[in-house]
Amino acid sequence: MTRKVALVTGVTGQDGSYLAEFLVEKGYQVHAIARRTSSFSRDRIDGLRDRARENGQTFELHYGDLSDSTSLNSIVATTRPDELYNLAAQSHVGISFQQPEYTTDVVATGVLRLLECVRSMGLDTRFYQASTSELYGAGIEVPQSETTPFHPLSPYGVSKLYAFWISKNYRDGYGMHVTNGILFNHESPRRGENFVTRKTTLELARIRQGREAPLRLGNLNARRDWGYAKDYVEAMWLMLQQDTPDDYVIATGETHTVREFVARAAEVAGFELEWSGEGPQEKAHDRKSGRLIVEIDPAYFRPSDVELLCGDGSKAKRTLGWEPKVKFNELVEILMKSDLAALGLD
Ligand code: NAP
Ligand code: GDD
Repeated sequence: MTRKVALVTGVTGQDGSYLAEFLVEKGYQVHAIARRTSSFSRDRIDGLRDRARENGQTFELHYGDLSDSTSLNSIVATTRPDELYNLAAQSHVGISFQQPEYTTDVVATGVLRLLECVRSMGLDTRFYQASTSELYGAGIEVPQSETTPFHPLSPYGVSKLYAFWISKNYRDGYGMHVTNGILFNHESPRRGENFVTRKTTLELARIRQGREAPLRLGNLNARRDWGYAKDYVEAMWLMLQQDTPDDYVIATGETHTVREFVARAAEVAGFELEWSGEGPQEKAHDRKSGRLIVEIDPAYFRPSDVELLCGDGSKAKRTLGWEPKVKFNELVEILMKSDLAALGLD
């Protein structure tokens, strides 16, 4: 039996690394695109090539960049993937306000470049586009489903809106197998250190170790539907196993504020937070030691922020048979315990 070939972009990131592992275990020949960076950013996939080789499996890295059609054309032409998972992005919403043009080039035009590679070569590739709950933005309806109107609130969200529609356009216009996974926030111990969940658990672990406090955060009132990245990469794969391409919301259906996330993580780390003040003056002290643990830093406020995300994943449950295994409380524990363990704390 010939093995299926998968091509993954964004493999050095949180989702790409879990997805590559998942596909290698499923027996795929996995090719992945990593961009050139001046310091190596491959920790999340360290050893995957060796592990794959030992088990007679394939995991091969190629240098490429979503801003560079030449590299994408060459990689797609050489690998001729059965399935292409496009996860690469400048994925930080806050930073997209500081780098709007670059974000648009990679997050919006980058998708067009990849779709054009597949179309112009006449390949039968099934294409997964990493769409996002940031598309809903202003929150016209709760919970948000595949039929909720979009109203993005950041350069990142607007770029993902283009990416969503150009993906749909290639599906409808050229009959290509292109699917948008509209994923709500998902986290893990591999989450980038400047997203609010991981920043919180990493900093709380350091504070527990006796290092400098406090944890400085922005908008504590924002609500997110947080799931577990390992669960979510399986949903990506399931989407491409469907004969008909479509769009799917992937979410837990639970929503919590950033403040709730911080309070729960602090509890797991052994603190009991007592909140005081309002707005930029809000603070949290540890009830037992009196130590200042959290304060607000307006530098982390965004020009416009998405206040409420809560997804309706019923279509994914009905069609893909997919449901989240890990929900909020367990997720916070997984992240907090992992960062404590990394410092030798429990
Ligand atoms: P992530 O950890 O930030 O990973 C992003 C990946 O994209 C990294 O491998 C990064 O490479 C790569 N990349 C960035 N710019 C690139 C470029 N110009 N060319 C090629 N590769 C580039 O993101 P993630 O959390 O795994 O998310 C994966 C995808 O899902 C992203 O498209 C994100 O926007 C989307 N998404 C994420 C969530 C979530 O909650 N995690 C929810 C919905 C949608 P380096 O390592 O070199 O930086
Ligand atoms: N990053 C960050 N840092 N966010 C903070 C902070 C802070 O210090 N303090 C408060 N927040 C708030 C943000 O303003 C936002 O309302 C919320 O915490 C979540 O921020 P992030 O963790 O940065 O995630 P995000 O929701 O903006 O974006 C993530 O999820 C999207 C899906 O909804 C990213 O992974 C995107 O790539 C993804 O599309």
